[in-house]
Amino acid sequence: MALLPILRYPDPRLHKVAKPVQVVDDRIRTLVRDMAETMYEAPGVGLAATQVDVHERVVVIDVSEDNDDLRVLINPEIIWKSEETQVYEEGCLSVPGIYDEVQRAARIRVRTLDEQGETHEFDAEGLLAVCVQHELDHLMGKVFVEYLSPLKQNRIKTRLRKQEREALKA
Ligand code: NI
Repeated sequence: MALLPILRYPDPRLHKVAKPVQVVDDRIRTLVRDMAETMYEAPGVGLAATQVDVHERVVVIDVSEDNDDLRVLINPEIIWKSEETQVYEEGCLSVPGIYDEVQRAARIRVRTLDEQGETHEFDAEGLLAVCVQHELDHLMGKVFVEYLSPLKQNRIKTRLRKQEREALKA
């Protein structure tokens, strides 16, 4: 097990598009374990492989209160979205300290492989639906702040670059 370094916005590597996993093997299972450990340690409710600079379609999510409901998504696809939307205040381990409202589909159906390579489908609503859509955006190279106004995005970039400079000096 290992903690993986998390890329921070506006790192350009966060905009790479992830490729599908070709084989669900021990390399992928190790990645999943390390990503889960990194997510729980952070702590966060979701992490996409893109955020740890691995550009393959792998996501871990756990929206439970007790951190006992790990969901592993490999090559996930949203196969249905409700027209009804919900607005949720989102944050991201790659954009520390920034929270803002994003509007997304209220309910979705997801098709995914698990860490054994088996196909599953599940329906999601509420926080789980938010989280799946947020993490699948990461796999497409999209960070949630890109839903905000250009003015807000620039303020966030300035703030995070300043934090980075201060961290380097400290
Ligand atoms: Ni995120």
